[in-house]
Order: sequence, then C-alpha cells, then structure tokens
Amino acid sequence: MKLPRSLTLAELLPEAQQGGYAVAAFSARYRACVEPVLRAAQDLRSPVIVEISQRELGWFGLSPRDFRDAVEKAMIDLALDVPLCLHLDHSWEFDVIEAAVTAGFSSVMIDASAQPFEDNIAATKRVVAMAHPRGVSVEAELGKLTTTDKLETEGDEALYTVPEEALDFVNRTGCDALAVSIGTAHGVYTVKDPKIDFDRLAAIRALLPTTPLVLHGGSGLPVHTVRRAIALPGGGVSKMNVATDLEQALLKAMPGRSRMTSAELDALPNEERALGLDAVYLEASDKITNYVLSAGKADAVRA
Ligand code: 13P
Repeated sequence: MKLPRSLTLAELLPEAQQGGYAVAAFSARYRACVEPVLRAAQDLRSPVIVEISQRELGWFGLSPRDFRDAVEKAMIDLALDVPLCLHLDHSWEFDVIEAAVTAGFSSVMIDASAQPFEDNIAATKRVVAMAHPRGVSVEAELGKLTTTDKLETEGDEALYTVPEEALDFVNRTGCDALAVSIGTAHGVYTVKDPKIDFDRLAAIRALLPTTPLVLHGGSGLPVHTVRRAIALPGGGVSKMNVATDLEQALLKAMPGRSRMTSAELDALPNEERALGLDAVYLEASDKITNYVLSAGKADAVRA
C-alpha cells in the first residue's frame, strides 16, 4: 500500500515548475539519514523528495520495505506536515521497481537510458503500465549521464538528450517526469563550474511545456548554475537529485569513517552518529534554502 500521505511527482512538481523553484530529491542512502532530511524540510516548510536507487539498496544493505519503514517512522516522529514523495531512484530491473511500488513508494524511476531508444521506450511503458494503475508516478531518463560514482549509473559516456527525441519519448511512454542529460554528472565534479547546456534545456522545455524535468548530479553544482536551470522561461528543472554531498557531509563529520552499510551506521555510538546526522541536516537545509529555493513553499503544493 502506498505510504500514507505521500505524493507523486505529478502532484508535487507542476507547482514547482510554475513557482520558480525545484524540489530537492535527497538520496538518503542510510536509513538513519532519512530523519535529518525530513526534519530540514519540516523546519523550512519545504516540500521534499526522499529517494534511494536500486544500486544503493544493494550497497547499503536495504530492501525497499526497510527504506519505506524508515521514512514512515521519521514522518510519525516528526509529525511531518510538509509534502513528501517517496521515490525509487535509478533502477533498471522491473522486479525491483515493482517491489518498491508494493512496499509503498509513491514514485519510481526506470532508467533504461543505456538501451537503444526503442528499448528504452518499451521498458518505460512497461513500468508506467504497472505503476500508474496503483497511483504511482514514473520518472524516466533519456540521454546518458556521466558518473564519477558508480553507485548511480554504470557507464562513463556522455550523451546529451535530443529535444525532438524527448518529445517523442514522453508522448509514447506517458512518463510523469523526465531526467535530462545536459552536462551534469553523478559524483564529485573534477571542475569547479561544470558546463551546462542551457540552450538544450530551453529547447526541451519549449517542446515539452508541461513535463517536469529532472536534473541529476546536483552535488557540487554552483548556486548560480542550479538557479539558472530552475529559472528558465516556462519553468526549468523542478526536481534536483542530491546524493554525494549528503553522504560526504555525513562522513566528514565522523572523522576516520568511510562508506559503510546502513546497519553499520546504526551500530555506531549514538554521539558519533549524531555528529554525522547533524551535518546531513545542515547540508539538506542549505540545498533547500540556497539552491532549489523551496523553503516556505510547502503550503503552495495542492495535494
Ligand atoms: P550526485 O551524487 O552527484 O548528487 O547525483 C545524485 C543523483 O543524481 C542521483 O540520481
């Protein structure tokens, strides 16, 4: 059953697109990081998306049900009353995506972007046909994102989204949101100011005036880049994914620690873990306030 009071991307993002802000999608990765992310959203009266990918589920030792339970517990503990979407990030296996829908995720991503165009369409259509009747939204990806962190996607090659293909893709799949490749990358950027193809983003927007567009690789992007991607005429990106910055904030605040499983983080001494989780709270607050500009927008979302 869908997590009570969780929203789909279709319910959350159109308001953002029109309102000049984006909703941050935080990859919590660890169960314990869900609470500080939601607390930041609650304190700032911001809508929020909390997510985990297929590869992260494996890496951090969690099932979709474990992650849903962590989100539900944090919602209850915080008496959360800002709009929330529980989203499955990059996933490519139908069974995993269906398990997330069954576990109560309100949104899922099918990433078949590594496949040829027609195969990507077929895979996305199959997920839409499974998810939509159950009230769950679907994000898909067209074009490939580079990565310095193999947790999210496998390949290294960059292939930017072709606007005309994006129009065809959305029309034929019925997906609710589209992740576009315009120069961002997963993981840590090797340059300070990555070059983003804003003209391409504008061209995609012109052909798809109402489809929410998603910016992946939100970590390490300069404030001006994020704000420009949001402020496009007609509305720019309305969902920005953030993973690396959150985990780096966590680990930096716990000297000597490196990536571990979710259970290993749970088993650390409370005082040490609290230092890490405080840093996650501050990082999420910074992204909400200064980057995606969603603070104070909770009540604008019509659920
Ligand atoms: P970063 O790790 O670069 O923030 O990318 C996150 C992402 O796009 C998850 O899908």
